[in-house]
Amino acid sequence: MGTIGSTDTLTDMHADDPYPVYEWLRETEPVYRCRTGAYLLTRYTDCRRVLSEREYFLAPGGPWPSVGTAGRCAPVLSRVMSAQNPPRHTRMRTAVARSFVEHVRRQQPWVSSLCDHLLEPVVETLRYGVADMTTLAEAFPRDTIMHVLGLPQGDREHVSTLVTDIFPTSGPLPEQDRDGTVAMRQLTAYLQGEVARRRRAPRDDLMSELVRAHTACPEALPHDELVSILTGLTVAGYPQIAAGIETGIVLMIRHPEWAVFLDDPVRARMFVDEVLRYDAPVQFTPAPRIPARTVVLGGVTIPAGAQVWPVLGAANRDPGVFTRPDEFWPGRGEARHLSFGGGAHYCLGAELVYLEMAMLLRRLRQRLPDLAQARPPAQRVGRLRGFTSVAVMRTEADRHDR
Ligand code: HEM
Repeated sequence: MGTIGSTDTLTDMHADDPYPVYEWLRETEPVYRCRTGAYLLTRYTDCRRVLSEREYFLAPGGPWPSVGTAGRCAPVLSRVMSAQNPPRHTRMRTAVARSFVEHVRRQQPWVSSLCDHLLEPVVETLRYGVADMTTLAEAFPRDTIMHVLGLPQGDREHVSTLVTDIFPTSGPLPEQDRDGTVAMRQLTAYLQGEVARRRRAPRDDLMSELVRAHTACPEALPHDELVSILTGLTVAGYPQIAAGIETGIVLMIRHPEWAVFLDDPVRARMFVDEVLRYDAPVQFTPAPRIPARTVVLGGVTIPAGAQVWPVLGAANRDPGVFTRPDEFWPGRGEARHLSFGGGAHYCLGAELVYLEMAMLLRRLRQRLPDLAQARPPAQRVGRLRGFTSVAVMRTEADRHDR
């Protein structure tokens, strides 16, 4: 581990296993000021407080200065919901929250058939060889969110390319500061085109419903907020679930003693919850919090206007809150993990995440009960966790499809 404040320490947070450096920070400098001036929080209680006390810890509410280089990531994410404060945040969240949940509920049968449809070629490949599960892990949530929004499935490659360029652009470390501005501009233009099409010919999808709401009352949902909502849902809608699914598959294979939880719908949710706690799919919130005035956290004085980043992955391993936090232990029945954030910006897609992760992991176990690792999986490092490759095979015992 590097010296605190050195490049090495920050790089350690980007390692395959950032948890030793999180532990070290939590014990020695739980409120840690990076060289970049951003503050990292690694204790559960501090993270929870910052996420829930919105009157003291604001969202940036517009472009925030980038910590690494010249503010490249801020314009990309400054318009999405998680970067907003009231009244804009309240307006956007109110406009979409209920209809999002309803559309997801209505589309469950479609999502279920999609899951079977995507699983079929994987089962076929595994009859004779090795399959990389990252393709399935990405395709399932991507096609689902595109369907819920009403984006044509034929555009999936285009959307994937843009989201891949946009997604990992923000974070407290210079390494995370990538320029997604061009891709964001292209995604916005693409979504504006789709909005115009829905305006002319509405369909039974979430986008048409939001367009109707905008037409009926533009003050309640202005056009730029409508497009920002769609942008946020497209960008947030699948890479994080894909990371969760990848981690879920790896843990299900590594822990057959716990994979039995997937046989039962209630315990399957506990399994998913523990996957999300054990290795948070996103290690930081999409946007920092900004103290409205000088505040003291963990004995450290943080000036008003500073960037404060709760490290969700570190909070989820805090031994003050979770017993033996480095153990994967579904059904532990302790405090809520912070993988979905907390407070007013709590993840809007959380129920969709439980639905998709539990559905796919359960079906994998039903159809491929003898799944094994073909090679060690390759960990993705940085803000987005998960794996870049999860090569699996079936053991000789049972290659007959069920
Ligand atoms: C495993 C998958 C996911 C994880 C780990 C995750 C994580 C998070 C986190 C940590 C936040 C809090 C942001 C903050 O406090 O600043 C958040 C907010 C949000 N998430 Fe998710 N998310 C996931 C999937 C999704 C999906 C599938 C959608 C929608 C399709 C979604 C939509 C959103 C939106 C719109 C917000 C902003 C809410 C607001 O500001 O009011 N997320 N998510």
